[in-house]
Amino acid sequence: MLFHKALGALALGTFAVAVPSPPPWAHNENSNGGRKHLEKSRVEEPFFYKGYDLSSLKIEEDGGYIYKDTQRNNVTRPVEDILGDGGMNTVRLRLWVNPKVPYDGGYYESYGLDYTLPLAKRFYDKGYRIYLDYHFSDYWADPGKQYTPEAWPTELDPLASTLRNYVSSTMKAFSDAGVDLSIVSLGNEIRNGMLWPLGVVKVNTSPASARIESFQNLATLYSAARKGVSDAVAEGVKKPEVMIHIDNGWDTNLQLNWFDALTGTGKVETSDWDIFGFSFYPFYGTSATLANLKNTLNTLADKYNKPLHVVETDWPAICSGSRAPDLSEPSIPASAPGQTEWVHDVIDVVRQVPRGLGQGVNYWEPAWLNNTGLGSACQDVLLFAGDFSEYPKVTGYSRSSVDLYKGR
Ligand SMILES: *[C@@H]1O[C@H](CO)[C@@H](O)[C@H](O)[C@H]1NC(C)=O
Ligand SMILES: *[C@@H]1O[C@H](CO)[C@@H](O)[C@H](O)[C@H]1NC(C)=O
Repeated sequence: MLFHKALGALALGTFAVAVPSPPPWAHNENSNGGRKHLEKSRVEEPFFYKGYDLSSLKIEEDGGYIYKDTQRNNVTRPVEDILGDGGMNTVRLRLWVNPKVPYDGGYYESYGLDYTLPLAKRFYDKGYRIYLDYHFSDYWADPGKQYTPEAWPTELDPLASTLRNYVSSTMKAFSDAGVDLSIVSLGNEIRNGMLWPLGVVKVNTSPASARIESFQNLATLYSAARKGVSDAVAEGVKKPEVMIHIDNGWDTNLQLNWFDALTGTGKVETSDWDIFGFSFYPFYGTSATLANLKNTLNTLADKYNKPLHVVETDWPAICSGSRAPDLSEPSIPASAPGQTEWVHDVIDVVRQVPRGLGQGVNYWEPAWLNNTGLGSACQDVLLFAGDFSEYPKVTGYSRSSVDLYKGR
């Protein structure tokens, strides 16, 4: 814990502020009058989250994969130590409800509570902030799929109450294990809703009244999940910042329409989420430019006056051949220095959001050695170069880009 506080203070650039505490815009559901007073009396820069999603790491380690630090004579080290030296202060981890192991592809992919909680504890105990990414599914949840967990009810009201209990009981489990969560995202990339089919939304529908109508069930479900957070806090869990996470962070109109529709239902108030999270990848359309990201972040900052984060991004170390996608910033090379340049540019855009509202960047899964493309059509977007020449022995050598948060 002590180390945890020290790291927080270092990241703030001052030793005067060693008390980890919710930011002033977060709900103050913890009745702690003393701390509240302290918050009011100090002027500080908000904490800037510099994170990596490391959800797959334990699966790799269980498979015998090792990681070497090329800046330290190839010594074998835990990935978080290498990335921590490179400026990481936060780890993002996904949570699935009842994952099947192995899942239908025969792979070991398991992000249930028994997997994710010990991993969170490991990183928390080393001083990193933990950002928990709820998928509300037994499997991957993204704009293309949001399967309701098999064991959960198929009618709206019972589903909402199961969701509420699930959020509060899992948050309590982290707290009981001694892990304070800094951020919880209620759903992962929920542009098309979550908990399908009931929670599907049609964000591209017009007119606005039809769009809002399509958000009614999602609003009921989101609101239940948000109440689950309050339930946990009422039971003594430290209040995290509550995030809504949407993909295509470069698409300003999409984001405006989405949040207008959610609040237009009358069931969700703007005070029901604390921070915005956006995915921002350079592969899926050349509109995913830094200028368009800037426009989205600044527009939403103006409208909602809430913190914003880029919560998923990456850039290729290798991307060539006929399948190579057009990258949205073609002046940046596909290389380790290019990875660093891209993330520095993204950080600059986030940091330039007015009133200090840009507050974090997360790089997605930099060490997933047997999934080097991470869903893109590029060959390798990792920050570690995998050596499979002595398979089944697999070694990941750190690239120069493991330093991309250093000094930022
Ligand atoms: C990656 O490797 C790990 C460790 O061997 C294995 O458990 C997992 O199933 C593999 N995943 C894929 C997608 O190949
Ligand atoms: C580290 O390993 C890489 C890959 O095998 C090699 O190219 C490099 O020379 C090694 N560096 C040192 C200092 O041994």
